[in-house]
Amino acid sequence: MTDTGMRAYANPFNAGFGVDPPYMAGRDGVVHRILADLRDGPGRARYITVALGDRGVGKTTIENRLRDYVTAEFGWATLRWTAGLESPFAATLNDAYDTIRSQLTGPRRRHVAGTKIGFNAGVVHADIDLVAGSQRPTTVAGQLRSLGTLARDTNSAVVVFVDELQAGDSASLAALSTAIQETNGERLPVALVAVGLPTARVRLRNIRGATFIERQRPIVIGNLNDSDARDALERPMIDADRNYEPAIFPVMLAVAGGYPYAIQLVGEHTWDQAGDNDTITVAHATQGARLAQGDLDTIYLERWEQLTQRQRDYLAAVIQHLTTDGSAPSNLVAATYGTDTRSAAQTRAALIDHHQLLYSDSPNSLRFALPGFELWIRRQSGATRTHPHTPPPNAPTTTTTPVSNNDHPTVGRRVEQIADRQTPRSTRP
Ligand SMILES: Nc1ncnc2c1ncn2[C@@H]1O[C@H](COP(=O)(O)OP(=O)(O)O)[C@@H](O)[C@H]1O
Ligand SMILES: [Mg+2]
Repeated sequence: MTDTGMRAYANPFNAGFGVDPPYMAGRDGVVHRILADLRDGPGRARYITVALGDRGVGKTTIENRLRDYVTAEFGWATLRWTAGLESPFAATLNDAYDTIRSQLTGPRRRHVAGTKIGFNAGVVHADIDLVAGSQRPTTVAGQLRSLGTLARDTNSAVVVFVDELQAGDSASLAALSTAIQETNGERLPVALVAVGLPTARVRLRNIRGATFIERQRPIVIGNLNDSDARDALERPMIDADRNYEPAIFPVMLAVAGGYPYAIQLVGEHTWDQAGDNDTITVAHATQGARLAQGDLDTIYLERWEQLTQRQRDYLAAVIQHLTTDGSAPSNLVAATYGTDTRSAAQTRAALIDHHQLLYSDSPNSLRFALPGFELWIRRQSGATRTHPHTPPPNAPTTTTTPVSNNDHPTVGRRVEQIADRQTPRSTRP
């Protein structure tokens, strides 16, 4: 301890939502794949990217990385719309329209040294007349086409980033989908990268006019595999020149699994436990893991308390029919749940759409959407588990590759609030 009370070691971990991790583990593959698709240019299906995954798995982090990259390395213009939060897409686009125009026409420096992906290096000045204020188109399609034309003429591109796709209002999503279909058909360089919860698919299916986006085959963002999860904890310690006992990682990962949000949580707590000690020890990790588990349990309990008895019964039936791949056939679940088919369908719909605790990835399949929730329910009912920190073989938190069809976590809006409350640092810019 120093006299000033200042910490010798600033905590690098960053548990929250939409906040960048100190080290983004395991996502280089998906980031480069998307960048390569963007670089290939318009006209192809993969010029439109839809990436789905559960809350806290790292979708916004991936988008932030992509945005930084296309801005700094490609020198392109970007537009960001977080659906459902503030304004409809049309208003966001309208507000950004002039800025994007000047980004496309102004000088821009392209750093391509050492990268494979890139365009002409150097400073580019475009001979474009900027007086066009009076000719500003009024519709989403008109504005995107106009920006796309300008981007094409300046050898640039516009990337539209959409976050929380599942929360988009129908009018916005229909307008965006139609406009992007048009620009892509006309080979104009207006790309779309949209991320959201797995429920986005159903949402889009039910919106007239959103078929173009709906038809894109989504990339699935899952949990990190074991070695990436360890990297996510270890790299920030190395970067901070912090000593640690190697045995801390199994202790921390037993709680966090491959779930990025939980990784930051356990990292943050463990670091705090170590205080000003020179070395982070297993004792610190054990205490940190306990605190992280406590945070996660609070999240689960609050979600559980929002459910009706019938919804809880339905979840119990899902657990009963879970197979080793983490999915349960909904017809068997409905049979176990009992009562009439319509009431089962209503309960199921509420758990999917309102509570976002389940999702359906194919017609007769249900999956848990909140990582660790299934385990928590099992623990509450006193079933099967002996050691609370050892996930069973099919637990979402033990999963595999960054881009795969395994199941993965969703934590709803409420969790975001809880997390923000518990981790004030998450609100820093
Ligand atoms: N690849 C990663 N490695 C380590 N931590 C990550 C990674 N991706 C995200 N995180 C952390 O996980 C938390 C949730 O990330 P976020 O991008 O907000 O998830 P989502 O948008 O899917 O809800 C944040 O604290 C973030 O810093
Ligand atoms: Mg997000």
